Amino acid sequence: MSKHSLIIGGTRGIGRELVRIFSEQGHAVSVIGKRPPSEEDRQRKNVSFWAVDVTDKPGVNTTLAEILAQNGRLDYLVFLQRFKSDGDKWLGEIQTSLTATKEIIEALAAHFSDSDDRSIVAVSSIADEFIADGQPAGYHVGKAGLWHLVRYFAVMLASKGIRVNCVSPCTFVKQENQAFYSQNEKLRNLFKLVIPLGRMGNAVDSANVIAFLCSLSPPLSRDKRSPLMAGFLCCRRSRWRGK
Ligand SMILES: NC(=O)c1ccc[n+]([C@@H]2O[C@H](COP(=O)([O-])OP(=O)(O)OC[C@H]3O[C@@H](n4cnc5c(N)ncnc54)[C@H](OP(=O)(O)O)[C@@H]3O)[C@@H](O)[C@H]2O)c1
Repeated sequence: MSKHSLIIGGTRGIGRELVRIFSEQGHAVSVIGKRPPSEEDRQRKNVSFWAVDVTDKPGVNTTLAEILAQNGRLDYLVFLQRFKSDGDKWLGEIQTSLTATKEIIEALAAHFSDSDDRSIVAVSSIADEFIADGQPAGYHVGKAGLWHLVRYFAVMLASKGIRVNCVSPCTFVKQENQAFYSQNEKLRNLFKLVIPLGRMGNAVDSANVIAFLCSLSPPLSRDKRSPLMAGFLCCRRSRWRGK
């Protein structure tokens, strides 16, 4: 029987790649984004889009009811949203990353399928542990909190057979920033030097990890955080000091 996957933040970056992967695997894919998708994305097979701000609780509840009515009970639920507006960066990050994720999980926990293969994945960042220059305090605290929220729900939902995992990428290349990196040779060379794999990660790498964590393949990987840094953290600092 085909899977029903709900992807929050599936209109850009990693989420967009994940939508493509699940669509190609024959899932019924429900996608939430703040803005409507591109015309190209609308053409994807078995994919339906809803445009709603995840911080708008009544709007989200109406949307979730429509999604369940259209595509049935859930198998996989993935969170990729992050705050990107002009408003208060602290409140915005907390509401978008934490409050919305908590409320959506609580609203949907009773609406998963009866299959053995039920999974939630939240996308954090290496900023859940380290400090990323250029990102505000709220981003760091929101991501650190998200990682702990994952651990909380991993325990709370274990008795329902729902696996809950977290993926924490480093800065990566995605379709939306590809031109920036391809025009910035100095930065590309720096990443080549400090990342043992010799290249930056990309949105497809992260989407593949999420798809893997969603599948039954890692049945024991409950409460798991997967940092995606292509060996970056294993390096001695001296490797990039002064570069
Ligand atoms: N980019 C990186 O280098 C990087 C590094 C580490 C971690 N991450 C994390 O990885 C995740 C995905 O990042 P990304 O760069 O691939 O994607 P992105 O370009 O930041 O897109 C985020 C997605 O979330 C949606 N979204 C944002 N705010 C929303 C809201 N209030 N309500 C509903 N939907 C909302 C966006 O919809 P709209 O486009 O319609 O607004 C979009 O689909 C994020 O959680 C990010 O923090 C990213």
